[in-house]
Amino acid sequence: MDFQRCDQTVAWTALQGHYQAHGRDLDLREAFARDPQRFESFALQAPEVFADLSKNRWDLVTRRLLTELAREVGLEARRDAMLAGEPVNTTEGRAVLHTALRAPRGEGLFSSEVHEVLDRMLAFAESVRDTGASGIRHVVNIGIGGSDLGPAMAARALQPFAHPGLTMHFVSNVDGHDIAPVLQRLRPEETLFIIASKTFTTQETMANAQVARQWFLAEAGSEAAIARHFVGTTTNLSAAAAFGIHTTFGFWDWVGGRYSLWSAIGLPLAIAIGAEHFRALLAGAHAMDRHFATAPLETNLPVQLGLLDVWYRNFHGFSSRSVAPYHQGLARLPAYLQQLEMESNGKQVDLDGQPLPYGTSPVVWGEPGTNGQHAYFQQLHQGTDVVPVEFILVKTPTHGHADLHTKLLANGLAQSAALMLGKTTEAALTEKAPTASATLGKLTVARHRTFPGNRPSSTLLLDRLTPRALGALVALYEHRVFTSGAIWGINPYDQWGVELGKALCNDLLPRLASGDATGLDGSTAGLLGRLTP
Ligand code: F6P
Repeated sequence: MDFQRCDQTVAWTALQGHYQAHGRDLDLREAFARDPQRFESFALQAPEVFADLSKNRWDLVTRRLLTELAREVGLEARRDAMLAGEPVNTTEGRAVLHTALRAPRGEGLFSSEVHEVLDRMLAFAESVRDTGASGIRHVVNIGIGGSDLGPAMAARALQPFAHPGLTMHFVSNVDGHDIAPVLQRLRPEETLFIIASKTFTTQETMANAQVARQWFLAEAGSEAAIARHFVGTTTNLSAAAAFGIHTTFGFWDWVGGRYSLWSAIGLPLAIAIGAEHFRALLAGAHAMDRHFATAPLETNLPVQLGLLDVWYRNFHGFSSRSVAPYHQGLARLPAYLQQLEMESNGKQVDLDGQPLPYGTSPVVWGEPGTNGQHAYFQQLHQGTDVVPVEFILVKTPTHGHADLHTKLLANGLAQSAALMLGKTTEAALTEKAPTASATLGKLTVARHRTFPGNRPSSTLLLDRLTPRALGALVALYEHRVFTSGAIWGINPYDQWGVELGKALCNDLLPRLASGDATGLDGSTAGLLGRLTP
């Protein structure tokens, strides 16, 4: 499919002019003072997610020009091509169809294959959840990247919906400090291992799977029991069979690893929360898919978020975005988004392989609120860089501690207001600074206590963190990443950047035993010398 490079469009040039004339110096406090309707003008409602985008450094003209940019690069045609199963992952010659995994039965591409695996996987999940009959108490998912982060993040987020008699473990790192303490807690007859790997070749996962297998054989002493206690989720059924796994749940090469939560890779989550809740997760994602596919670009939340990302990255020059979920259950969301966004859009050439003269994926990072407030928020308020923050607030908790929840929400609202409002030196001068040294001048103290303000943030609001809401939220992020990737003219669906390290690791493995440093760079040779006997 032909594509139009964003920096060669009329809208891009117009945005550059608009940035110079109005965008760079837009002051949010003045913008709110000028326009009492600003909150309403920049509010968007998508399925399960309300978004307040009014505290961002854009105006209605910016939004119109960004939307024109989306039209000019053919965003809608690109979206429709992806949803229609065209091979939009050009460097791997694959379709990109995670949306098909959450389409209702009979709708969407590959529906019969998708629902056959889904039905089988959910029936299996229910059989494990019948702990009286299954005897299973511990489920260990061994996988990494997309075969870990999605189910691990979602299982934590949906813990209030989880089976109380099952403990979920997620082992990903090839560092033995990950699996060793987990194995110590297990008894083989009560344990189900899920070996999760799209390719079934990933070094870390295969190594951990072998460790688990050896532990199991040593403890249970029976090769035959492996078949009952190990299952695989993979596209490579023959490799799983070669490992001795007979129960496998497959998926397809058109499901990217970081988009695979909805596939068989979601099995540990399905075991934790059960079939009904897993289907609700899929339904929430599907509702967001419909919104993305049909809402006009102006009111399309993933599209508008993706456009805002482009505005900040390429015009304001902001190189990172902080995600602050004010919900402890979303503690792993930033890590999940790091893979989703940075592995997708961390690219330096366009679809034709031409080097890009503009920035792509920002660094995405964060911690749950309020913890982050007592760590890095200092930099967000008074540091020299501007970092847009994304607050995620949930109106109703799943616990009964109403007072704690009120405090949590007040903190979230306070932080986004403080970032925007700041505090002038004049205001700081009127305050008492009880702890300041008596030798410091009043003005000096006030300058330390000044906040520049005008720091942008978005707030996403969920009613409750239900399976359906989480499904919608994650799908929202997927389509947002698609949007910015489409504007940048890159392929968000490959990940060649991880290959070089893998190849060098294979070269270094035998050298760690032999100490042979021939042909290595000076630093690696020096370090190898210190690590080998
Ligand atoms: O790090 C590269 C990567 O290929 C990710 O894209 C993927 O999610 C992860 O490794 C795990 O791959 P697999 O599921 O094939 O084990």
